[in-house]
Amino acid sequence: MRLSEGSPGTRILAFGGYQPAKVVTNDDLAQMVDTSDEWIRSRVGIESRRIAGPDESLADIASAAGGKALAASGLSPDAIDLVVVATCTPESPIPNIAATVATRLGIAAPGAYDLNAACAGFCYAMATASDAVRAGTARHVLVIGAEKLSQWIDWTDRSTCIIFADGAGAAVVGPVAEPDDPPGIGPVVWGSDGNLADKIYIADRNSFIVQEGQAVFRWATTALHPIARKACEAAGVDPADLAAFIPHQANLRIIEAIARKLGAPQAKVATDIVTAGNTSSASIPLALSRMAEQNELGSGDLVLLLAFGAGISYAAQVITIP
Ligand SMILES: CC(C)(COP(=O)(O)OP(=O)(O)OC[C@H]1O[C@@H](n2cnc3c(N)ncnc32)[C@H](O)[C@@H]1OP(=O)(O)O)[C@@H](O)C(=O)NCCC(=O)NCCS
Repeated sequence: MRLSEGSPGTRILAFGGYQPAKVVTNDDLAQMVDTSDEWIRSRVGIESRRIAGPDESLADIASAAGGKALAASGLSPDAIDLVVVATCTPESPIPNIAATVATRLGIAAPGAYDLNAACAGFCYAMATASDAVRAGTARHVLVIGAEKLSQWIDWTDRSTCIIFADGAGAAVVGPVAEPDDPPGIGPVVWGSDGNLADKIYIADRNSFIVQEGQAVFRWATTALHPIARKACEAAGVDPADLAAFIPHQANLRIIEAIARKLGAPQAKVATDIVTAGNTSSASIPLALSRMAEQNELGSGDLVLLLAFGAGISYAAQVITIP
């Protein structure tokens, strides 16, 4: 018996993001439910969101983002030996999305699985991908966070339909270029609390997302900044050295409250929610891709990711921009 040989450190090689073409504004929603642009902007911070077209599947959305990240990495599809799709909104429990996405992208016979940690999914998937590369069970991993929340929303429920949206973001994870290079993905700090499972849930296949908004808000604004700081500590990174903080895009007021408590006033804070809504496991890689595309982040920048959601599950890690 032998063990596989891995890499001492891992890094992100490239990102990619995808949003469906259809823009839904707050005024559009005010035609459907008793709400207003002013209420949504002031309580949640969203101005518009993207919703998948009727023929656009979760695999389509995931493949679009995964394809962009793969192309940006410069790797050939053959170089990918594991595909992980973080999602909590598949059309059906089987087949998994990851194998379909891999085939569509020309990645032949990789390991492929879906991972459900709800809105925390991308950071969980990044952690498991990084561990696989370190352990030598994979060399390059395509990690995708993809959601089609629109199919699990009651469009007559004003407490949820104004929040959630569709989209996908992806990253290619691989070994550091040289064994002595500093790692580009820090240790994950993750956890969960099943006592709060009833705060956000979908009861069964005929139901829609239900949440206790105020309870989630209270939890997120009080429990998460210590997790964020712990992830910095685990990576040996002083919050003062962060170039950016990218928390899950759940609610602008939650984002601002956690950012204030983090104690990294110099860090740019992702506010992708304004035009993307809450896209669950897609929100962090979408925000990362957008910030990198708009040159708000540069190579070598240290960025803190913090994901949280139903479960309740949460995860945080520091990464370096490729
Ligand atoms: C959902 C959320 C926006 C609600 O905001 P809130 O300030 O807590 O509002 P409340 O639930 O206390 O409701 C206040 C009033 O607004 C009403 N309201 C709820 N949704 C509304 C909407 N879309 N438009 C207008 N009014 C609305 C309520 O019915 C209530 O009316 P009432 O006072 O007459 O009973 C907020 O709690 C939230 O964002 N929580 C976190 C949820 C989250 O992030 N979930 C995902 C985690 S991954």
